[in-house]
Amino acid sequence: MSADGVNKERRRFLLATTSAVGAVGVGLAAVPFISTWLPSAKAKAVGAPVEVNVGKLDFGQILKVQWRGQTIGILRRDERMIEDLPSLDDRLRDPNSAESIQPGYAVNEARASNAQFLVVNMHCTHLGCVPQLIPQVGAQPFDDDWKGGFYCPCHKSKFDMAGRVYNGVPAPTNLTVPPYSFLDDQTVLIGVNPEGAA
Ligand code: FES
Repeated sequence: MSADGVNKERRRFLLATTSAVGAVGVGLAAVPFISTWLPSAKAKAVGAPVEVNVGKLDFGQILKVQWRGQTIGILRRDERMIEDLPSLDDRLRDPNSAESIQPGYAVNEARASNAQFLVVNMHCTHLGCVPQLIPQVGAQPFDDDWKGGFYCPCHKSKFDMAGRVYNGVPAPTNLTVPPYSFLDDQTVLIGVNPEGAA
């Protein structure tokens, strides 16, 4: 084969190789680009916001979701449950939520931006058990004058329907309220404050 023939063969080989590498390069470049659009399981675990539809929740019902490894409850309250809250203040350790953890928009009697929905971290502020919701009013084995609320069977802590802790129980503070916002009437976003709020 002449020198010219060798050069032509070599050019063909190089062109074919370059095209193949180029194709692989595009393929590899495309994968990370697409994956940046998908939140990874790790990102979800470290605290991506969680969107929850509360449209089907009845009064007195609670919906539980996981956010940042914690159980978050969304409780729908009726008028009676909301109106009963002030009557309990004398029996509570921190009725005004002065020493408890919640966003500014939850520092009120209902501990909520919308009194109908309590969004609350369900872990007891004593040692972290998840209390039971007992919304019924009436005598209970642990309280003769129960107005509805949360009862932690681990060491008998009690919280009202706003997650406010009773006097004389081991839990030191009210249940914590996480950041949240309403995207519309039926959709709550856990983990994000409303725009302009803190
Ligand atoms: S963990 Fe709830 S009372 Fe101890």
